[in-house]
Amino acid sequence: MSKHLLDFKDTEKKDIEKLIDITGKINPEKVNKISSISLLKFDEPSTRTRLSFSVAAYRLGIKTFESSDLSSAKIKGESLKHEIETYKAMGIESIVIRTKEDNLNEYREFKDISVISGGFGTSSHPTQAILDATTLDKFNKLDKDIPVAYIGDVKHSRVFESGRELFASLGKKVGVFTHESFLPDDLTNIEVLNSWDEVFESTEAIELLRVQKERIENLKDSNLEEYINNYQLTDEILDKSSEGFVVLHPMPMNVGIEISEKASTHEKFKYREQLSFGVPSRIASYMYVMENYD
Ligand code: CP
Repeated sequence: MSKHLLDFKDTEKKDIEKLIDITGKINPEKVNKISSISLLKFDEPSTRTRLSFSVAAYRLGIKTFESSDLSSAKIKGESLKHEIETYKAMGIESIVIRTKEDNLNEYREFKDISVISGGFGTSSHPTQAILDATTLDKFNKLDKDIPVAYIGDVKHSRVFESGRELFASLGKKVGVFTHESFLPDDLTNIEVLNSWDEVFESTEAIELLRVQKERIENLKDSNLEEYINNYQLTDEILDKSSEGFVVLHPMPMNVGIEISEKASTHEKFKYREQLSFGVPSRIASYMYVMENYD
């Protein structure tokens, strides 16, 4: 029976805590070698996720093959079932998928092959949520009632969606501060915040999200300007936050939109520390699906 890491709907609290714990502790030089084959299938651009899965596999001794010709099976009318059977017949034991589709449930049923989400549509990016939570843990924010507030295009964000699920499993709410057009339809487990003051009163960490122009229909320059005027993080705003306040960003960041030039070099902006957990999070995820992480 294969394990998947598609989202956190079937993941127990103890497993999430373990994933965060392992990601924070792993010394990639010392991990045991695992003999396995993994297919990286990315049909959307990726710098960090694709590379960190490759590096994580290398550290673990997993052989990876890459496929970017994602939709060819579909174009030829092949079902997902037959496509996956083909991979299994070639000895592939896990697949890391990034896709614009939100068809996670189609993958849940597959046995004898593990599927890890490297980003599905607007619905899941669990390995990003694990590295975000690990970063928050390192800065002692994970035990707060609201460990983090998301600022930006929450509606179209799979980083937010997996974060909300992960923190809900840990018994936590997440904050959201954004324009009403960027609020998700489902407000479960969210504390909607209405000003930067409310953000700073409610939490000690924020995660900025990119305005995903590619996913927004009819985005006008005037909308973007209004967004920048009201929600862009500037150094003046950041200076009002508490001493240990932490700013995260899953990247890529658009300086001049969600963050100002000056704020992007502010000492409270911890994106480098966050990036450093990219490979450990993917190592922990491979180990999780292979049940090799005790
Ligand atoms: N954070 C993230 O998913 O980055 P990439 O799109 O570069 O993988």
